[in-house]
Amino acid sequence: NQMLSWQRTGFHFQPERNWMNDPNGPMYYKGWYHFFYQYNPDAAVWGNIAWGHAVSRDLVRWKHLPIALAPDQWYDIKGVWSGSATLLPDGRVILLYTGGTNESAQVQNLAVPVDLNDPLLRNWAKAEANPVMVPPPGIGVQDFRDPTTAWYEPSDATWRVAIGSKDSAHSGMAMVYSTKDFVSYTMLPGILHSVKRVGMWECIDLYPIATSAAGANRGLDPSARPSNLVKHVLKASTSDDNSDYYAIGTYDPAANKWIPDDESLDVGIGLRYDWGKFYASKTFFDEQKQRRVLWGWISETDSESADIAKGWASLQGIPRTVLFDMKTRSNLLTWPVEEVESLRFGLRDFSGITIGAGSTLPLDVGGAAQLDIEAEFLINKEALEATAEADVAYECGTSGGAAARGLLGPFGLLVLANHGLTEQTATYFYVSRGTDGNLRTHFCQDELRSSKASDTVKKVIGHTVPVLAGETLSLRILVDHSIVESFAQGGRASATSRVYPTEAIYNSARVFLFNNATGATVTARTLKIWHMNSTSSQTFDI
Ligand code: FRU
Repeated sequence: NQMLSWQRTGFHFQPERNWMNDPNGPMYYKGWYHFFYQYNPDAAVWGNIAWGHAVSRDLVRWKHLPIALAPDQWYDIKGVWSGSATLLPDGRVILLYTGGTNESAQVQNLAVPVDLNDPLLRNWAKAEANPVMVPPPGIGVQDFRDPTTAWYEPSDATWRVAIGSKDSAHSGMAMVYSTKDFVSYTMLPGILHSVKRVGMWECIDLYPIATSAAGANRGLDPSARPSNLVKHVLKASTSDDNSDYYAIGTYDPAANKWIPDDESLDVGIGLRYDWGKFYASKTFFDEQKQRRVLWGWISETDSESADIAKGWASLQGIPRTVLFDMKTRSNLLTWPVEEVESLRFGLRDFSGITIGAGSTLPLDVGGAAQLDIEAEFLINKEALEATAEADVAYECGTSGGAAARGLLGPFGLLVLANHGLTEQTATYFYVSRGTDGNLRTHFCQDELRSSKASDTVKKVIGHTVPVLAGETLSLRILVDHSIVESFAQGGRASATSRVYPTEAIYNSARVFLFNNATGATVTARTLKIWHMNSTSSQTFDI
């Protein structure tokens, strides 16, 4: 449908048509990044789920390949659901995925490449032994899904795989199986971890993360051994609130336990990868660049009938590198992979602009539907010092968004805006000062005026973000027609929105700098805006 084609993106991963959900089995194999995804080949709504497949040299420019796994066996006929890839040291490749059986039970299945010499891994064989894991006693037959990448446990020379579930008290939980051959599995006694009342844990992920300065810029192989310089991240996707929660903690393989560093920030009640749309995510270890890369599914917030009309639904977020934040030591940093910067062109540099309280400045970059923006802000010092107490109870989600003025905020950028600003998505900071004198920095994204269409869900999303002494307030924003992905403080927090402008499209899309604080001028110490090339225009051979 041409009418809605402006919502398609220029540099995000999406199939040519139809429905997509979770990222599956990401890996780097023989020079290629492989990406699989939950895919309905027949319609723009969920159903008939198969694994779509694409390959890339750089995580940015993709080639679509034929479907890798289709629902064609009794143990996956209701859907080839989410799963993960494991690369074994002897060169073998293992896929484990959840199948919906002919009786709608959830079981785990094994598939391996037919030809390991084909770097594109185009053909897959499902194991004769499938299903290789079935719901254990006491676990609901529809509460047993999404196997992780396996990791090696040297003490008993087995591989371990975690699977998400929930118990009768609606606690999210993860259990672990051990295997030597990926065909027969033993469930380990006890459970890895559970959190009360957060609901089913979908698409769990467990991975080591370096916490030493020496390992600061590197990811770790999933089998890297825990030590005092390594922590483990546990992530669960909770369908109750459609969010991906992670926590940093310690993994004890002998006890089959993962313990959060801070119980008040446990999985499902604390930190999220992203405060907007971002779900069913999965990381993988990229051996080529020795980094951990995160993929997340960005679903639609328009109506199902709009999806059917446009013939497709959902995007994948720009893949992100994941690192432990050495400065705060309490959160991860997620940041768009560096390869995305290869799409930048036509830099306009507005660095140094100061903007008074209550003003909005157009930034003339021409059509602004595909952008990469970097900004760093300073609030004028006198205003900060003169503010004794301001907006103690502020929260992005319950605030009035970018239009609601306070002493020290909001200020930031308006993207996918039309000329008259009646359509706009605002990404901004809002600083409050508590009665204790401490500043709190809120990083928000306001979708309330993002579209004149009436069938879209619009919210103010965001959260507080740690800002350390001497730091500026920094933003990175990726804009791509119907998605805005924003990162604050180098990736300590992020916020992704799907937006559906009706006027701020193609060459009519604009970008503005705004300061709606009543009590402070703000200087954009850095403000760089690049246009972004479309990946479809960048052909390559396979
Ligand atoms: C998460 C999820 C998974 C399941 C898949 C089915 O979005 O519900 O738990 O495997 O999607 O498509």
